[in-house]
Amino acid sequence: MYMKKILCLLYLLSIFCFSHAQNENTYLKQKIDSTLSGMTIREKAGQLNQLDGRGTIENLKILIRKGEIGSVMNVTEPEIVNELQEIAYKQSRTGIPLVFTRDVVHGFKTMLPIPLGQAATFHPELIQKGARIAAIEATEHGVRWSFAPMIDISRDARWGRIAESFGEDTYLTEQMAVAVVNGFQGDNLSNPQSMAACAKHFIGYGTVEGGRDYNSTHIPERQLRDVYLPPFEKAVKANCSSIMTSFNDNDGIPATGNKKLLKGILRKEWKFDGVVVSDWGSVTEMIKHGFAEDRKDAARKAIEAGLDMDMSSKAFIQNIEELIAKGIITEETLDNAVRNVLRLKFRLGLFDNPYTDINKKKETYSDKHLAIAKKIAEESVVLLKNENRTLPLSPKIKSILIVGPLSDAPHDQLGTWTMDGETERTQTPVKALREMYGDKVEIHFVKGLEYSRDKNKMNFNKVLAKASQVDVIIAFIGEEAILSGEAHCLADIKLQGAQSELIKILSGTNKPLITVIMAGRPLIINEELNLSDAVLYAWHPGTMGGNALADILFGKTTPSGKLPVTFPKATGQIPIYYNHTNTGRPATGKEKSLDEIPLNAKQSVLGHSSYYLDLGAQPLFPFGYGLSYTSFEYSDLKTDHTVLTPNDTLSISVKVKNTGQYKGTEVVQLYVSDLFGSVTRPVKELKGFKRIELSPNEEKMVVFELSSYELSFWNINMKKEVEPGKFKIRIGTDSQSGLETFFEIK
Ligand code: GLC
Repeated sequence: MYMKKILCLLYLLSIFCFSHAQNENTYLKQKIDSTLSGMTIREKAGQLNQLDGRGTIENLKILIRKGEIGSVMNVTEPEIVNELQEIAYKQSRTGIPLVFTRDVVHGFKTMLPIPLGQAATFHPELIQKGARIAAIEATEHGVRWSFAPMIDISRDARWGRIAESFGEDTYLTEQMAVAVVNGFQGDNLSNPQSMAACAKHFIGYGTVEGGRDYNSTHIPERQLRDVYLPPFEKAVKANCSSIMTSFNDNDGIPATGNKKLLKGILRKEWKFDGVVVSDWGSVTEMIKHGFAEDRKDAARKAIEAGLDMDMSSKAFIQNIEELIAKGIITEETLDNAVRNVLRLKFRLGLFDNPYTDINKKKETYSDKHLAIAKKIAEESVVLLKNENRTLPLSPKIKSILIVGPLSDAPHDQLGTWTMDGETERTQTPVKALREMYGDKVEIHFVKGLEYSRDKNKMNFNKVLAKASQVDVIIAFIGEEAILSGEAHCLADIKLQGAQSELIKILSGTNKPLITVIMAGRPLIINEELNLSDAVLYAWHPGTMGGNALADILFGKTTPSGKLPVTFPKATGQIPIYYNHTNTGRPATGKEKSLDEIPLNAKQSVLGHSSYYLDLGAQPLFPFGYGLSYTSFEYSDLKTDHTVLTPNDTLSISVKVKNTGQYKGTEVVQLYVSDLFGSVTRPVKELKGFKRIELSPNEEKMVVFELSSYELSFWNINMKKEVEPGKFKIRIGTDSQSGLETFFEIK
């Protein structure tokens, strides 16, 4: 009887919730429709017009007053935000509030590590906290819409924007996308501390030809569906408020004019009801693409494809009235776009509360925020090498030499897309090590090179003179922020300037050499790796990067980061990524190296497999790689089934033991290989990961639940289905090692 009562209560509750949601949607629809009904065509076009607020705002005020702007970018002084909002809300005819936007990509004032570094944490819950503090800081400056997360799958380190991505893997990017959307948007988008998220760039932008930004992409639909679209679908399912179209033309169609993508996949299939915003000028760039004849044609193609808001090109505000008057587009098409914008503004609560509370206690740079930034930086650092127990620094160390262009680079350490971060707040390694450990060891500092491209070796003698006096050398090298990010692509991802020579002379001192690399991408570091006793990859670690690195170097924190992207041995290996297909002639690993090739060799003596004569087929480091100060042992891999139906869930367990002498956190990774399919399948795919902290000798059981559905893919008939067949599971510390077992789907 008791159970019956519970079930009845739950049923009534579900009806109440459903009807409440229905009523809410009905009420929202009524508000949108009534607002829309009072608008002129020009005012409707105005809502679709997004302009930059930098520079003089007098002209902006005129346009706002006329109702010709719906959203303003890059105004972050709350007093000015409120002044402009007052004009829209009180002086324009419609009284529709503006929505203010900014690229809050990895923090607002408190800069978090770049997203590629955040991905290396494999810690979505922590990344969500980072996004939350970014939203708190941005909203207190008047920003209610961020152009992030950037969730382009990126397999090409020549592309500068790999820095903004979460790397090469779809599953990891999905987890990070949802974490950032939830962190930005909070529990209720109308909360003044909530910020609308924008999943970008839709779609496939990370595969620009040759790694050259803005270039064409050639992704067939199956790969779009299996690799590039899933993170966006997950973001939409997490109620991401907006989507930004990408600059690239894929298969000949610019994303901003791609109806199948915007109206077909995004709206029809995924039921997305947020805003689709173009990327900067990408409406009229369709003319340059040769996809639109002129500005009017570009405006027509974009709005008919399903674009709602025109970022900065002014093509909508300048052409929509004429397009309607001539019957080229319908007012319904215009109304649909305006509804999406009004819905966002209602959901943000802007109609009820359009202003930023400038008297509220500021939380920017609070201790809590700085602590979260430090934690993310700590967990983002990847230990690539640690020989002779170089790290953590022994208490016997009495003096250290800090050297290198990134040792005291408050601007570069913050990385690309640092719109509001303040360099004077940056905790550089030099600053942090002196503050935190200057009472324990003598800290000497000779920069050696002023910046990453510096070729001037005149201070190398000073470096060597100081190096002879210390117990250990810590070199901070990498790349300046300006060499990373949008439009900053490299044909060769080597270390710039005289950094390699610096490492070479330091290794010649025979002092323990620790090399810390700060960069927005994988760099070619083979030689520096060989010459160093220990190597830490810190990405661009943000405001608190120095504190995080100091605690890692002295062992207060054990590094746990894992590579979210494959590290090539040479630029020529790109694209190189772990979840590739096998090909008909995969490299065997037994191929001869260049030096082993005999003279006058006959045509076929080297065999016939897919690899490079000079560098083989293996990367320098695989996806998921990262060492610890301790060591972990895996055992007892078990599954609760060996045969599944397509509707089953497989439970997989493994034991992990800390077999070293330091407490550490391991990112246990689950990879699945579909050994045979109606189309060729990736040799393995990440399908789960868990962070576990273990003290020395502690052992834990780690359990994964894998539903068969997660093994579905777009098959030969372009249907997303689970296919029967044999599968291999591998669980381990990276994508190339671990324990294996098999199961079958009948
Ligand atoms: C840029 C970027 C995009 C950014 C937008 C606004 O060109 O491609 O990611 O959000 O313009 O700054």
